[in-house]
Amino acid sequence: MGKLRAAITGVHGWVPDYVLTNAELEKMVDTSDEWITTRSGIIERRILKGEGQGASVIGAEVVKGLLEKTGTKPEEIDMLIISTVTPDYAFPATANIVSDMCGLKNAWSYDLNAACSGFLFALTTGSQFIETGTHKKVLIVGAEKMSMLTDYTDRTTCVLFGDGGGGVLLEPTTEEVGIMDSKHYTDGSGRQYLYQKGGGSVKPPSFETVASKEHFVHQEGQSVFKFAVKGMADVSVEIMERNNLTSDSIAWLVPHQANLRIIDATARRMKLDPRKVMINIQKYGNTTTGTIPLCLWEWEDQLSKGDNLILSAFGGGFTWGSVYVKWAY
Ligand code: UT7
Repeated sequence: MGKLRAAITGVHGWVPDYVLTNAELEKMVDTSDEWITTRSGIIERRILKGEGQGASVIGAEVVKGLLEKTGTKPEEIDMLIISTVTPDYAFPATANIVSDMCGLKNAWSYDLNAACSGFLFALTTGSQFIETGTHKKVLIVGAEKMSMLTDYTDRTTCVLFGDGGGGVLLEPTTEEVGIMDSKHYTDGSGRQYLYQKGGGSVKPPSFETVASKEHFVHQEGQSVFKFAVKGMADVSVEIMERNNLTSDSIAWLVPHQANLRIIDATARRMKLDPRKVMINIQKYGNTTTGTIPLCLWEWEDQLSKGDNLILSAFGGGFTWGSVYVKWAY
């Protein structure tokens, strides 16, 4: 019998209906469609509107869709990990709330925060529980309501982010498919370039933190860009080389969607045909931990059993990493 691996046996994504276009942003801040598209590749993004609508709304839609698509009963789920930087509350975990909303009565659940790399960190974490044989059905979800962290008077960030999410079901297999390898990094010395200044235990919420807009995302774009281009390309090539993969044997690169120029640079370093790169940044912007599962969801019909996929991300923290997946269906 072969090694026990975690296979992705279903994928689902969900985005809210409201479309925030570049044209609408032109009316809100001093920007232009031309600047946004040439610098980032983004044309529009989705926004979750409505009072009391948190990241759990996105997570629950993803989980319900996954259960339906895979014919899985809620009580069969052993574990749910939600990666998010926009949880419903500081505590309890959004995963606990989604478990309750979806009737996952036999699952334990928790949140994981690795910013834009969160989905990959969660995927690798969840796959370990399958590989040990202790868990049979594990849900990994990235759910992000980035609009709550976005200052719509700051043109340097408000054009970039959107709301949405996606997820996968992991199940055991002894076939040569599934999560084959992963490599992750963190470098906390990069934290000052991309973070939320206020609201945590260092700077608890106060009139001052609100007045100085410290509850919104702070990003020094150019600095992050330099680290992201190198980090995402390096780790993608590293995972290719240590699994003896060539640009011909890779079916798809599934990159985090922060900036089209970062994606292109990564694909070039991997010597990949641009047609093998999943890109939907133009429609959804940067949904942080949502981008990679949203790509898998949109490309699901084009994937075949045995396809080699390289999933790669770079994000705040800094965090970055790559997961090598052999598609299982
Ligand atoms: O997802 C996790 C990790 N995040 C990333 O990977 C994001 C990495 N960074 C980036 O993607 C890019 O740095 C940005 C898209 C955020 C910005 O692109 P850039 O080419 O690095 O632009 P910049 O920040 O160097 O700004 C260039 C100019 C500045 O004007 P000056 O100082 O040259 O006069 C900005 O003030 O563009 C200006 N600018 C804008 N102009 C029109 C900044 N934002 C805007 C805007 N519209 N929205």
